[in-house]
Amino acid sequence: MQDWTETKAIQEGIDRFLAGVAMDEIRQGMSHSLKTPGKRLRPLTLLLVSELNGGSIDRALNAALGMEFIHTASLIQDDILDEGMKRRGELTSHEKFGIFVAMVSADYLISRAMQMYADCDPKSVFAFGRAGQQLAEGEVLDVKSRFVRASEAYYVECVRLKTASIFASCFEVGARVAGASEEKAQICFRMGEEFGIAYQIVDDLIEFTEIDDANKKSLQQSYILPLVYMESMSREQAIEACMAQVERRIASIERDLNAFPDGEPKEKLRQVVDILRKYNGVKIR
Ligand code: IPE
Ligand code: IPE
Ligand code: MG
Repeated sequence: MQDWTETKAIQEGIDRFLAGVAMDEIRQGMSHSLKTPGKRLRPLTLLLVSELNGGSIDRALNAALGMEFIHTASLIQDDILDEGMKRRGELTSHEKFGIFVAMVSADYLISRAMQMYADCDPKSVFAFGRAGQQLAEGEVLDVKSRFVRASEAYYVECVRLKTASIFASCFEVGARVAGASEEKAQICFRMGEEFGIAYQIVDDLIEFTEIDDANKKSLQQSYILPLVYMESMSREQAIEACMAQVERRIASIERDLNAFPDGEPKEKLRQVVDILRKYNGVKIR
């Protein structure tokens, strides 16, 4: 994926953006958060879905960058809430620079993300704003889950809001900026939501099995799906049940992909969806 045209366009877009930030203090804080090697799956999926619907990278790039900016802002804020110490293998923003720079960086990123939507159609702007709204709502459920005995339904709703909302918006906006029909935009929304929920379950499994501690570490633990399942089953069964959930959601995405023409964007999207399986199979077992 590193050599894909889409990945390079995102990288160049981020570099251009950072070079244009006038204030040193803000550029330093944001640069730390934006340039540490995240997977950049949100802008990548937005661009690929756009191409899948006949659109171009150029036309979709600003919307894609805007999504990476609010995602990054949400991680800075999430790390404050979760007392995160490490993110993407580096110190978190507030650990490295203090709470002031972390908060200003997040605010700045959200504001610049909004500017990225200046030329988009109103439905894309709405979908973008909805992602930010739901991220906040999801974080509330997440923090509350430390104090309540969360059910599976509670967990799924929390994850739909805190993680899947932004992927659903990425997939939907990708379709909309390409001029897709309402029906296609809705199918893309659904694929993004399924991808986002499965993605968080995989992330939970990684946290649960502690296989990625060098990369990411927080003092506060969210209520993760394996723990929900372990209320009524063994550790092994809980891991199996999580993986089965991920497989069901992958199957749903694959069914929806059939509505779109074959070609390179679809193949690349399949590879992105396959990331869910790689984490599932190779890293956890
Ligand atoms: C982290 O997202 C938060 C989750 C929803 C699991 P990513 O794992 O996509 O974070 P980066 O951007 O690649 O670091
Ligand atoms: C996901 O929550 C982060 C956001 C959606 C902002 P988590 O707290 O579970 O994610 P990580 O493990 O810190 O990346
Ligand atoms: Mg966290």
